[in-house]
Amino acid sequence: MEHKTYPACDLVIYGALGDLTTRKLLISLYRLEKSSLLEPDTRIIGVDRHARSREAFIAVARQSLEAYLNDEVDDNIWQRFAARLHYLQIDLTQLDQYAQLREMIDPEQRVMVNYFAVSPLLFKNICQGLHHSGVLTRRARVVMEKPIGHDLKSSHEINDEVARVFEEDQVFRIDHYLGKETVLNLLALRFANSIFTTNWDHNTIDHIQITVGEDIGIEGRWDYFDKTGQLRDMVQNHLLQILTFIAMEPPANLEAESIHNEKIKILKALRPITIDNVEAKTVRGQYTGGFVKGRPVPGYLEEEGANLDSTTETFVALRVDIDNWRWADVPFYLRTGKRMAGKRTEIVVYFKQLKHNIFKDSYRDLPPNKLVIRLQPNEGIEIVMLNKIPGIDDHIKLQQTKLDLSFFETFKRNKIFGGYEKLILEALRGNPTLFLCREEIEQAWTWIDSIQLAWSQLNAPPKPYPAGTWGPVASVALLARDGRAWEE
Ligand code: BG6
Repeated sequence: MEHKTYPACDLVIYGALGDLTTRKLLISLYRLEKSSLLEPDTRIIGVDRHARSREAFIAVARQSLEAYLNDEVDDNIWQRFAARLHYLQIDLTQLDQYAQLREMIDPEQRVMVNYFAVSPLLFKNICQGLHHSGVLTRRARVVMEKPIGHDLKSSHEINDEVARVFEEDQVFRIDHYLGKETVLNLLALRFANSIFTTNWDHNTIDHIQITVGEDIGIEGRWDYFDKTGQLRDMVQNHLLQILTFIAMEPPANLEAESIHNEKIKILKALRPITIDNVEAKTVRGQYTGGFVKGRPVPGYLEEEGANLDSTTETFVALRVDIDNWRWADVPFYLRTGKRMAGKRTEIVVYFKQLKHNIFKDSYRDLPPNKLVIRLQPNEGIEIVMLNKIPGIDDHIKLQQTKLDLSFFETFKRNKIFGGYEKLILEALRGNPTLFLCREEIEQAWTWIDSIQLAWSQLNAPPKPYPAGTWGPVASVALLARDGRAWEE
């Protein structure tokens, strides 16, 4: 690497042996290493409560790469990567144990980036421990993983605790979807292309669908997931973030504050879902046994450690209305679930149907244009449009065709990274643009809390759906009531 892109840095990961670190963070850090994006003097210090030697932690990292990298581990790269890894055994609830950090890190010489990859219940302890140890300076940063709380109140408490030791500009709240290439490309698509800037409101758009489907179940995370549910796990953060990128007004520039302000305006304009409209606007589902990719899989209540009485939702579909000028009468339909028919994250923008049809002989109703934005897998953009079928027949015959732009094919030389690589790098560089500000998170919780309350007042069990499908039938009915259907 010829140029330094950030100063000497220590990335301290709390929860170094946990699921997030071993499945995502270490893999992403290795990929950054492979692309020579980590500065030579960056250290990665894993912190966890279990006794491990440095060598044992390095072995954990190696196993993670072998299990989750989807690629060969290159020996030279691995040597460089392993040399950065260190380990400290700290019980995060014990103030005096944080002194070990002070022995290892000179905060005057190095920027300390503290990555909280643990339950939010421990965020307060870590903040207090760091403060107590005297290792924090104004240059230190904190990266916080979702969920930041489980409702507005708890999120407020966590943010208050963190604010006791970190200023807001030191806090980097992660939503890994904002690091995904295709989510970032929404900014380019909307604000760098005049065909979209001028055709992006209720005059031309009929409705928008956002689908975030996963074929995996809860992957041994019963304890976390059952207390959380799909609404809090996915909608409060990832789906609302996609929605704000699609719906926001053009920011004045790409500065963090400009983008945050526009996103907050959308979150404030979301029409509340309450007991009065919850049945018409939401569907809660829970998967039963079924087949995913031809393989039998258990139902949610048959997962390891399951509580048979659980009524936690693993699927959510919503009709969302945004009360502002741009989106008047343009519904956004959101759906997300575990154990669906496939892994698919996609936005479909349905344009309005033309009112007058001069091609009646070929098409009785002109199907509307669609813009399909594939966020994952197979990242790309499609425009579905009508074209004349070539030929010398009497009548002009039309056919629906696609302009299909595959990112992989088009940008062959540029790797498409997952979200974490980008966000970790931006946190090391100290660039807050892709992170969430406190008000955004709290505004999102305000809207989600209202749905959660309405569901508890309704007190209805989730609707079952077989694993390997796109959710309960009620989700189809949610759109059918408005004369629409999900993109399949
Ligand atoms: C996480 C959720 O935030 O996102 C998980 O907690 C979910 O439940 C994951 O599986 C999905 O992320 P991705 O990048 O695989 O779409």
